[in-house]
Amino acid sequence: MRVVVTGAAGFIGRWLVAELLQRGHVVLPVDNLVTGDPDNLAEFAGRRGFEPLVVGDVRDEDGCRAWLAGADAIAHLAASISVQDSIDDPARTFDNDVVGTFRLLEAAREHGTRFLFASTCMVYDLATATSGIAEDHAVKPASPYAASKVAGEALTLSYHHAYGLPTTVVRPFNTYGPYQRSVGEGGVVAIFTRLSLQGAQLRVYGDGTQTRDLLYVTDCAGFMADALVSDSATGLVLNAGTGTDVTINELAALIEPEASRVVHAPHIHPQSEIAVLRADSRRAGAILGWKPQVTLAEGLARTRTWMAARLEAGLRVP
Ligand SMILES: NC(=O)c1ccc[n+]([C@@H]2O[C@H](COP(=O)([O-])OP(=O)(O)OC[C@H]3O[C@@H](n4cnc5c(N)ncnc54)[C@H](O)[C@@H]3O)[C@@H](O)[C@H]2O)c1
Repeated sequence: MRVVVTGAAGFIGRWLVAELLQRGHVVLPVDNLVTGDPDNLAEFAGRRGFEPLVVGDVRDEDGCRAWLAGADAIAHLAASISVQDSIDDPARTFDNDVVGTFRLLEAAREHGTRFLFASTCMVYDLATATSGIAEDHAVKPASPYAASKVAGEALTLSYHHAYGLPTTVVRPFNTYGPYQRSVGEGGVVAIFTRLSLQGAQLRVYGDGTQTRDLLYVTDCAGFMADALVSDSATGLVLNAGTGTDVTINELAALIEPEASRVVHAPHIHPQSEIAVLRADSRRAGAILGWKPQVTLAEGLARTRTWMAARLEAGLRVP
């Protein structure tokens, strides 16, 4: 298939491009580079199936039409992903995540393009400590970011119901691994790993008992690549997570064994914090036959090795 990947120069996008090329697909990467970095794709230049990066914006109607002409499928990952930015400036998140999704869906409708929308586990309402979160768990958008994803999901599914377009929504749980941003509101694993390698203090927001289901990025990319080609997944919402969660305190201790280097700080947006995030991914298991392959210990080790090598070589760490 010829697949358009939006947000391709970002963290998960980069790994999805790698996975799709590995599976023999042709990939057209699109990114406006607002946070993405073309260097993330540099190693694919000249690789069979890899088309040059299009620097473009998913809010651009004509651009969307042009990219989807001649494409069999699109994996739509481009988004403003910061919860705090969405609280400070909801208009930007709305434009990128809702309007951009709508523009792409319209182009997909015109060309009959298979459509995968990258939503997030952040759409879910509070869960109890005992049960994993399945797709029918209540949704509660606690930030404009989550609300924009809920809107994007609804639009994506409506194009299946109204027009018969093969669309699928995926809700990855917290994804981590090499190339994730480790500054600002980056991923917790990336931030903690960089601070640990630099001998700095790790700051845990709140009491650190909040939990996350951490999905290694190659498992996330494999999941998306599976869902993208699956007829059984059309019209569905699918969770991607490991089914095991870890508290932020435990995670900090795994990354930085020196306890005095882990400190606690008041939460920056406590109203949008989710206390327990653990996936029930049985639906994806049944529909796609998908199972995560990389354990937390292995994923953390790979992330640390990658980042240490970059720091040592004087290369930029995102
Ligand atoms: N990282 C996670 O843990 C996680 C978990 C669940 C869902 N997701 C979703 O997966 C997707 C990818 O997340 P990520 O962590 O790789 O984020 P990322 O910020 O690294 O990637 C997003 C990319 O989109 C690009 N982009 C933003 N607005 C754009 C626009 N208007 N037009 C074109 N490109 C634009 C950015 O430049 C960036 O390269 C997002 O949709 C995110 O909501 C991420």
